[in-house]
Amino acid sequence: MTTIERRGLRIRVLFSPEEIAARNQALAVEIAARSGPEFLVVAILKGSFVFAADLLRALYAAGQSPEVEFMSLSSYGAGTESSGRVTVLRDIESDVRDRTVILVDDILESGRTLAYAKDLLVARGAARVFTCVLLDKPGHRNASIEADFVGFDCPDLFVVGYGMDVAHAFRELPFVGVVEGRVSELGSDDDGEHPAG
Ligand code: IMP
Ligand code: MG
Repeated sequence: MTTIERRGLRIRVLFSPEEIAARNQALAVEIAARSGPEFLVVAILKGSFVFAADLLRALYAAGQSPEVEFMSLSSYGAGTESSGRVTVLRDIESDVRDRTVILVDDILESGRTLAYAKDLLVARGAARVFTCVLLDKPGHRNASIEADFVGFDCPDLFVVGYGMDVAHAFRELPFVGVVEGRVSELGSDDDGEHPAG
């Protein structure tokens, strides 16, 4: 089991850079097979920015020429639980009418974020809206939505890295990992808690 130390915390690797790269390539082939020749990728910021960037290059390798847009969504709530209310902090600029859209997000958990974004683009007249997430955490689904393309099934743990953060930290990690505890507690059993924020 690989672990690293950052900011005084011990982080265990769940999905390695190599596993993620291989999965991205396979996802791109799946997307290319189902999307048709022209589509718009809409990446939901901030968490998906690394995944979206790698997926785009994988789509290029799979022979696709997608356009890209960014949408910043926020679901406010205490700590690491997402609340019911989703807000558009920054909208896309392109018209999605009659277009095929691939919505890309980091994690599908309650489903509220992705369901909100999908409903919004459908309401604006998108011809088809596919959804693609790096990680699927099925345990806490609240909205009735499943992703069309899933990178990995994720255990019910708070993950960081590869674009994902806890309290703005760890987005730069090249892997998806789990914060296991303080380095000073090395060797002690993890109680499963993660830092607040
Ligand atoms: P939901 O599907 O609306 O509940 O929210 C999914 C969003 O919550 C993701 O896009 C992430 O921004 C955030 N999120 C959920 N689980 C985690 C996690 O384990 N680490 C970091 N962010 C998470
Ligand atoms: Mg997010």
